[in-house]
Formats: sequence, structure tokens, C-alpha cells
Amino acid sequence: MERIYSVERNSEIELRLLIEAIYLKYSYDFRDYSGASIKRRVNHALSQFECATISALQEKVLHDPTAFMQLLQLLTIPVSEMFRDPSHFLAIRQEVVPLLKTYPSIKIWIAGCSTGEEVYSMAILLREEGLLDRTIIYATDINPRSLDKAKQGIFSMENVRAYTHNYQQAGGQRSFADYYTAAYGYAIFDKTLCENVTFADHSLATDSVFSETQLISCRNVLIYFNKKLQDRAFGLFRESLCHRGILVLGSKETPDFSAYGSQFEPLVKQERIYRKS
Ligand SMILES: C[S@@+](CC[C@H](N)C(=O)[O-])C[C@H]1O[C@@H](n2cnc3c(N)ncnc32)[C@H](O)[C@@H]1O
Repeated sequence: MERIYSVERNSEIELRLLIEAIYLKYSYDFRDYSGASIKRRVNHALSQFECATISALQEKVLHDPTAFMQLLQLLTIPVSEMFRDPSHFLAIRQEVVPLLKTYPSIKIWIAGCSTGEEVYSMAILLREEGLLDRTIIYATDINPRSLDKAKQGIFSMENVRAYTHNYQQAGGQRSFADYYTAAYGYAIFDKTLCENVTFADHSLATDSVFSETQLISCRNVLIYFNKKLQDRAFGLFRESLCHRGILVLGSKETPDFSAYGSQFEPLVKQERIYRKS
């Protein structure tokens, strides 16, 4: 009896109902996200929306698409950085670029690109290595606001100062300021960096593969998924990558314990850079 009436049990039921309601109404599928992470995000949302219970939050977002869009910002964690983990980008420059140079044309998929910082980092690195002109980048995410921001390519100067340090640590070859124009506290990035970039809505939870690619970067996205959804994502990556294609992940992510563990081999293990076996 105690178990049936516990507040915690109620929250679990309400959380499942909220996630189901979001899926049925808006087709965003959070059903296979890691439980702990989604719980934390929803608890945070309760205080932001001043809702006493998850059921109250469900009622709000079900009847108000604007409120849902606000909740989506909290659920998707649109946090990024340029040249995040500089040693990772240095390893891409040193170990991956020579492999990319062997292809006459290159397609890169940046899955979960958020507000675009990773896309601009990759584009800058490829330009410095003479590869940008023969590369097409597909930058995808489920959050339309993040994709809009990514397309604009405008970032706060305060953040760009930290990115400058990352860029240098990542083996940057020029002055970082060459890539943007500063105005009113913002850095407006060079539009030509994104000439061959397509920003698009794509969910690793519900959508399928759309192109063959030589490199996939999916960083700091899989940590929010449970094993079943991670397996789905690795399956998509395997299907999309060409023979011996390259997969790069975030610092806490690995294919090792997934259903596809044997189908990716490490290229630079400590930097989470893998190759299709
Ligand atoms: C923490 S950000 C990572 C941004 C960037 N990759 C980086 O490492 O800096 C996680 C991103 O994954 C996106 N995301 C979450 N679920 C997704 C899904 N099912 N399919 C594609 N992207 C998803 C979120 O919208 C968010 O922009």
C-alpha cells in the first residue's frame, strides 16, 4: 500500500505520462532517454514553469505549443562550445584529416549540432586544411530554435574569448578573429564557412539515414540516451558511414558496450575517434 501511495511513485507515473503526451501531441520522442537525466530536466522545468506537479506541467504543454517549445529548450540541453575539448580537435587535425584528404569529395554529418558551435569549429578546421571546398556538412538537431541560432552564426563575444583559447589549443593556424566580425558584444561568423552546410531537423530517435558519409560527429548527445536508443543511433551511424568511415563521439561516449561494439574500432581511443570496422 505504501508503495502505491508514495509521492515518488506518483512522479514516475506522471513522468511517463508527460513523455507519452509529448510524443503523441508533438512527435518528439523522449521515451528512450536516460531516466535520471530526463527526471532532472523535468524537475528543473517544474520550478521554471511554477508547476507543483508533473501532471500540471503536462496539462500546460499539451494545451500550449509555446509552453512546449519552452520545455523543449530545457529537455534538449542546448549547451555547446567551439573547439570543445581542444585535444579532440587537435586529434582530428592530426589523425583524421590525412584520411579525409584521400577522398575526392567528403560528406560530414554533425548529429545533435545544437546551436552550431561544433559546425563552425569543423568548418574552420577544414578550411585551414584545404578541405572545406570539397566538403558538404549536414548539421542536424531536433531543436528548431538551436538550428535557427546555428544558421545565424552569431555568438556572444564573451564566449568567443574562451573559444579563442580552445582554437589555439586545438592547433588553430591563424588569428581566431579572422573568422568573425565583432559588433555590439557579438561575433558574427564568416558566412562563407557555411556555404556547404545544410542545417536540418533530424531525430536520432525517430528518423532514418539520409546520406552516405565519410565522417560522423555526434558529441555529447548519446549520454542523454538509454542503451536501446544508443544502439539505434549507432545503427544509423554504421548505415550512413562509408567503408572505413570515421565516427567521433563526446569524451564520455563509446560504442564499446553497444550492440555495435565490434563494428567500430578505435582510431584515437582517448579522443573517442573510431573507424567503421
Ligand atoms: C549537449 S548538446 C551537444 C552539442 C554539440 N554536439 C557539442 O558537443 O557541443 C546535445 C544536443 O543533442 C540534441 N539532441 C537531443 N536529442 C536528439 C535526438 N533525438 N536527435 C538529434 N539530436 C538530439 C539536442 O537538441 C542538443 O542540441
